[in-house]
Amino acid sequence: MKICVIGAGYVGLVAGTCFAESGNDVICVDVNEDKVEGLKKGIIPIYEPGLKELVLRNSGEGRLSFTTDLPSAVKASLINFIAVGTPPGEDGSADLKHVLEVARVIGREMESFKIIVDKSTVPVGTADRVREAVIEEHDKRGVSIEFDVVSNPEFLKEGAAIDDFMKPDRVVIGTDNVRTAEIMKEIYSPFMRKSNRLISMDIRSAEMTKYAANAMLATKISFMNQIANLCERMGADVAAVREGIGSDSRIGHDFLFPGVGYGGSCFPKDVKALVKSAEECDYDFVLLKAVETVNERQKLVLTEKIAARLADGSVAKPLAGRTFAIWGLSFKPRTDDMREAPSVVIINRLLEMGAQVRAHDPEAICEATKIFGDRIGYSNNQYEILKGADALAIITEWSEYRNPDFEKIKTLLKHPLLFDGRNLYEPRRMSLAGFEYFPIGRNGN
Ligand SMILES: NC(=O)c1ccc[n+]([C@@H]2O[C@H](COP(=O)([O-])OP(=O)(O)OC[C@H]3O[C@@H](n4cnc5c(N)ncnc54)[C@H](O)[C@@H]3O)[C@@H](O)[C@H]2O)c1
Repeated sequence: MKICVIGAGYVGLVAGTCFAESGNDVICVDVNEDKVEGLKKGIIPIYEPGLKELVLRNSGEGRLSFTTDLPSAVKASLINFIAVGTPPGEDGSADLKHVLEVARVIGREMESFKIIVDKSTVPVGTADRVREAVIEEHDKRGVSIEFDVVSNPEFLKEGAAIDDFMKPDRVVIGTDNVRTAEIMKEIYSPFMRKSNRLISMDIRSAEMTKYAANAMLATKISFMNQIANLCERMGADVAAVREGIGSDSRIGHDFLFPGVGYGGSCFPKDVKALVKSAEECDYDFVLLKAVETVNERQKLVLTEKIAARLADGSVAKPLAGRTFAIWGLSFKPRTDDMREAPSVVIINRLLEMGAQVRAHDPEAICEATKIFGDRIGYSNNQYEILKGADALAIITEWSEYRNPDFEKIKTLLKHPLLFDGRNLYEPRRMSLAGFEYFPIGRNGN
């Protein structure tokens, strides 16, 4: 099948590569010339485990190519996946300018039947707007060429994106056209060999499904963060509570880990966009507004613990003269993505309070430098940054932090103080190892 994927970011590059891996001819299009030039040379613009090998193999075998030439790619393909960014606009709603711009180009350039697939996360009703944009261009050209618009939201997780795409929990296809549904089924069939996990529905329900999924996950996180904060105040242990409730099959064990709040390119913007969509139809989504407020507060829980233990009482710069070592910058492990990462809020707060910060991350230092510049120090060695620091704070749960050399940490730090935003260690073990340990929702000392 001839496929064009427009937007070669986290979603488009993974989707395009996986479609090529299953034998299709795929052209990935992006407006970013440097990105496209790099991809042509095998330089992968993001860190995603397993992606590089697949890109190299499929490009090498001629099934995957990269271009900035959208008109030619549209003409050459039957299916056009739109996978461009949908960042939040000023009012929180999803900004559709990239999606609609692509739709207009498709309308201007197509010469035969096309299936246009919205893979970007877009609000309910966007497929209609894409259809209108294409028809407007046809009208300008004085032509009428058949096409179909499909909603096919993406559910991959950064850090496990290849696996999620190749072995999805489900693939949602929103279309009201039987022929198009069959074609979509065909291109996803290589990923459904064990069992059929393709769910067909109407377009609006497919668009809503993506937002409902992310909003539900964000709600779970904020809920658990509030339970953790309450556990701390009431002398309960959130780790025990998590096991206790997770074993209820109606609740399940996933997504019940408290921490420093959710981040990334999806949950924050999708929660905001759904609240905004609700407002537009005069519905007050109070629950999701609270989810967002809780998340904003949760990002400051770690710095509040730090200030309570180490502040010198001065109002302006209570952490002046203190140095903190940070483990983990990306919004979650196994990605270099820093979009909306809690580390940004936490580090900025520490800097505001007068502290100095040195950070380690296995993959995100390059991205972090774009945000913090030389306001903080960086190292590729997780122990080096501990030398003479007042405390260690853990923000992202990379696996290399799970079983570190505690003796070495203690020797290098000025004080054996560990603020753990991800509850990586057992409080009892930490106390036996001589640490003052501050986890989330557990009694550390
Ligand atoms: N990142 C995720 O984990 C994830 C998961 C599921 C869904 N999504 C959704 O998928 C969409 C894309 O997300 P992403 O993280 O891949 O974004 P991204 O920012 O990594 O990639 C978007 C790409 O689109 C390109 N682009 C913008 N305008 C273009 C145009 N007119 N023509 C061609 N290319 C253009 C950009 O240069 C960029 O490379 C968003 O709607 C997002 O919400 C993301």
